[in-house]
Amino acid sequence: MRVGILTGGGDCPGLNAVIRAVVKVGQRAHGHEHLGILRGWKGLLEADAMPLTGIDVSGILARGGTMLKSSRTNPFRDDDATQAALAGFERLGLDALVAIGGEDTLGAASRLHAEHGVRVVGVPKTIDNDLSGTDFTFGFDTAVQIATDAIDRLHTTAESHDRVMVVEVMGRHAGWIALYSGLAGGADYILIPENKPDIDGVLESVRRRHDRGIDYSIVVVSEGVDLGDEGVQGELDEFGHARLAQQGVGDRLAVVIREATGYDTRVTVLGHVQRGGSPTARDRILATRFGTRAADMVAEGLWGRMAALHGDVVTDVPLAEAVGTLKTVPPAYYALAEPFFG
Ligand code: F6P
Repeated sequence: MRVGILTGGGDCPGLNAVIRAVVKVGQRAHGHEHLGILRGWKGLLEADAMPLTGIDVSGILARGGTMLKSSRTNPFRDDDATQAALAGFERLGLDALVAIGGEDTLGAASRLHAEHGVRVVGVPKTIDNDLSGTDFTFGFDTAVQIATDAIDRLHTTAESHDRVMVVEVMGRHAGWIALYSGLAGGADYILIPENKPDIDGVLESVRRRHDRGIDYSIVVVSEGVDLGDEGVQGELDEFGHARLAQQGVGDRLAVVIREATGYDTRVTVLGHVQRGGSPTARDRILATRFGTRAADMVAEGLWGRMAALHGDVVTDVPLAEAVGTLKTVPPAYYALAEPFFG
């Protein structure tokens, strides 16, 4: 069997670990041969690929990013693009495709399978952890660790200078990174897109600390929070999503805090640092388990399905289920953080 592998959407720690596992397990356990499709769906549209053998994927386990490069090309942007993707599959002589990506990449994979019968298997990637059907995506643990380290470091300057430090983290329309890093870093307030922002709550929390003689605070805000002000329009990506980092929620929140309290308030936007560098050991293992499952799913012909983590078991679910609704933070989870505010 000739199996294509592609990585789409934002790069993410653990992508290389998945590629390595799909190739090594596919080759050794099932006799598959592999083609690495370059730059996500763009490479399929252009039939741009390179052979991948065990030697090619040696030594990449700990490396961040993706050796196959990535793009946000949408094969459903118009009919020509979809036809080009189907033609690419034929031109490359593929029998199956492993698509490693988030909501957008796997949404396209799901449609290629459902509407055109493409033999595709998905692997859930995203630092945002917002895919349904799986308890966790790989890359999330690394992003949370990076954000937590940053919060720990920001505590130093917050404390030394009596400052309010606003930390803006990624996550799109899900507050998982904000909640996890805020909990782990002991944030004094956490704002997530799932909740209407309680600005009075933020201000009270900061003031209460000052009243108790603690003259500094850390406020974590997720990039997707809607402050209810005029906002700033960001560009849209090819899938029609706003580039949220351009909307500057951290900066706007800092202005509100500074003007209302008079406290010296500074902003750190963590941005792509959260996706950079080596995956944590946990992400390397999860990515390896997902890649192994994907190779087995190809051998078993489980098309239109995605590797998934349920508890500590790696299983598989329909792609359509994974991309049907966004997995956002449940209220009970947020409630866990509230007693620690202020
Ligand atoms: O989906 C991952 C993610 O890092 C989001 O958290 C963020 O909103 C987006 O990608 C940023 O995308 P780009 O790298 O295209 O700016």
